[in-house]
Amino acid sequence: MPPTVSQSRIIVALDYPNAESALDIVDRLNPTLCRLKVGKELFTRTGPELVRELNRRDFQVFLDLKFHDIPNTVAQACRAAADLGVWMVNVHAQGGRKMLQAARDALVEYGDQRPLLIAVTILTSLGTEDLIEVGLQGTPADNVLRLAKLTKDCGLDGVVCSPQEAGSLRSQLGSGFQLITPGVRPAGAAADDQRRVMTPGQAVSAGASYLVVGRPITQAADPIAVLTAINDEISGLTR
Ligand code: C5P
Repeated sequence: MPPTVSQSRIIVALDYPNAESALDIVDRLNPTLCRLKVGKELFTRTGPELVRELNRRDFQVFLDLKFHDIPNTVAQACRAAADLGVWMVNVHAQGGRKMLQAARDALVEYGDQRPLLIAVTILTSLGTEDLIEVGLQGTPADNVLRLAKLTKDCGLDGVVCSPQEAGSLRSQLGSGFQLITPGVRPAGAAADDQRRVMTPGQAVSAGASYLVVGRPITQAADPIAVLTAINDEISGLTR
């Protein structure tokens, strides 16, 4: 049974190589102030037991494994994520309509305990030349919009996007569609390896529903202070 305590729009990225270091930072967070993201490295090293442990600690978990396979396999993987009690799970929109619909249909049986199902459109690491090389015409922005529309058409809950894409996607896809944005930095924080960042307030004002924030929180001397400041900055802003 997933925990249901957080109203926060902040998802803290647990980019760690083992459970010990992930739980060290989790010990310094509070499930009423954030949710958590578990990605490929941490999940591959620790397995589902870490997700169960985070749920036992009342944290809602975004399982960021970006499933991309034939429809039956992705549907079963989404069921496995739902059985694990995750709050949000994601797939690659490039898996196509049948795969997206199979993922959505697989989660119907979970009713109001169903995880949110979102899609990745175009990885931000890909430029126009990379897309041409894999047979996709147009700019990354063209492809993001086309795949986000397909995602919505297939009945998924939203997409991961950069804060720069949030405004256009919000206006073209409407208010009910979830936009999850990494690349967020509080004013004055180091950009690290993020190339184009927005502040939390800017991202939410542009249309972001949830913000994925890693190092500005996990490497802070006082993570709760940073979380509280971000929550205060975005409280009251519409999404
Ligand atoms: O530490 P930082 O705030 O940069 O972490 C951002 C998180 O969001 C990381 O887990 C990173 O892998 C993820 N992410 C990203 N950019 C994307 C997609 C995911 O930064 N386009």
